[in-house]
Amino acid sequence: MPVNKIGFVHIRVTDMDEAVEHYSNTLGQEIVSREGGKVYLKAWDEFDHHSVVLEEGGVGLVKIGYKVDTVDELATYEKRAQSFGCTTTRVSNGENLAVGDGVAITLPSGQRVELYTEIEYLGTQTGTLNPDPWPRDMRGAGVHRLDHALISADDPAMVERFFGEVLGFRISERLITDPGNPVLIGTWMFCGQKAHDIAVVKGPDNKLHHFAYWLEDWSQILHAGDVFAMDDVSVDVGPTRHGITRGKTIYFFDPSGNRNEVFTGGYITGSDFPTITWTADQLAKGIIYISREVNERFTTVFT
Ligand SMILES: [Fe+2]
Repeated sequence: MPVNKIGFVHIRVTDMDEAVEHYSNTLGQEIVSREGGKVYLKAWDEFDHHSVVLEEGGVGLVKIGYKVDTVDELATYEKRAQSFGCTTTRVSNGENLAVGDGVAITLPSGQRVELYTEIEYLGTQTGTLNPDPWPRDMRGAGVHRLDHALISADDPAMVERFFGEVLGFRISERLITDPGNPVLIGTWMFCGQKAHDIAVVKGPDNKLHHFAYWLEDWSQILHAGDVFAMDDVSVDVGPTRHGITRGKTIYFFDPSGNRNEVFTGGYITGSDFPTITWTADQLAKGIIYISREVNERFTTVFT
């Protein structure tokens, strides 16, 4: 069994006030708590306590949390990670606000992943009894939920093997040099039925390329783009479509320089989904399908 889902992304920001303005008012997440110099946010369609943690002091990824269904599975993942050669440590209840006991794993590429089974339940803004389709006081882009993260690794094949063998992820799409000499450049992996819950691309170890929020459809992507213009958000790419995952997207930066994405579309996967392969000669089309051009910033800026 794979892990349940991506639960949270914890990042550093250079200026907390600017970051809160971006994640709360521009993206529309709700501030759940401010504690210990950190700000915890959730999106309106999420029922767990938080999905994004902001910590002042720099830029980049602190850790990614994945929710696991049972304590037994947590112990299994811990053992498998150790057998894989990764460093693991136990995380105590409350070490992460509102999150129960867990296991921290340092990936072969250096990023920290934390697994946990319990997190405080807050419920969605629309509730579970005769819910409205969206909340009347939705702000900004009105992001629904955290969707996925893309990290970089000097050896993406090793990290792909980790997510597959240790955490039970499957591969939806792979980007390779060419079929005659198949060196892995990027991999898109899922733990449920989404197109991806994690992606790994060739790049520096221990870095984040972006994390993404789900929106309902293409018109909501365009609406988000309008909000980004109103709020002078620095847009990296889009609105456009990916070849890989078939998603519709805008990439943009928070005020600290962490890259975010709003994402929709794609397809459903599942345990019988056959892996799709892209070759390096089609890389630009795979990433940005319509313009078939990838700007230099997109392939060189990691945080
Ligand atoms: Fe993405």
